[in-house]
Amino acid sequence: MKKILVSIVLLVCMSLAFYGFVLAQEKAAKPKKEAVEASGTALWDHLKKVDYTTKWKMWPGKTALYKGTEPHGALLTTYVNATALKAIKGKKGKLPVGSIIAKENYMPDKKLAAITVMYKVKGYNPEAGDWFWAKYAPDGKIEAEGKVEMCIKCHSMKKDNDFVYTGSLI
Ligand code: HEC
Repeated sequence: MKKILVSIVLLVCMSLAFYGFVLAQEKAAKPKKEAVEASGTALWDHLKKVDYTTKWKMWPGKTALYKGTEPHGALLTTYVNATALKAIKGKKGKLPVGSIIAKENYMPDKKLAAITVMYKVKGYNPEAGDWFWAKYAPDGKIEAEGKVEMCIKCHSMKKDNDFVYTGSLI
């Protein structure tokens, strides 16, 4: 009798373990989330939806409201999504497709003035690192978006660093 009970318990445990394994496999096999469309509106909606200010990490080594330079603002807080974070930490030289850097630009009195974003989109603009550029007012109003010449021109100084200023990717 005891033997039978032990066998039943063992069987149940094994089936549970197997079920867990199957579930994990299914989860791993799920297709990746759809990429965010390269548009100012879609990108803003995405930023709000993922709640980047609480869910994303800041640029490694940077804290909130660090000192910035022209033209971005006196104080900056820069967030990166998980894709970008991994490549920055891994010193990958470049940020992979799907990377998003969202930088909040504050006035000296800590009032939010604008949010500037770089979003790497596959094949979007090969001459300039495939970055989609966007600038928003604090309420989300789009002030610039797309292959913004002004952004690209200045960030081209950092072409060897994938157009990124904040830290070395190498
Ligand atoms: C005149 C030069 C200049 C222009 C124009 C410019 N940037 Fe920047 N950007 C910088 C500098 C310098 C930094 C590093 C932060 C700092 O010190 O201000 C930076 C940082 C950034 C970052 C953080 C990632 C990084 O590259 O370090 C983003 C995102 C960004 N800029 C977006 C934009 C967007 C979008 C525009 C256009 C609307 C723009 N920038 C225009 C100079 C510029």
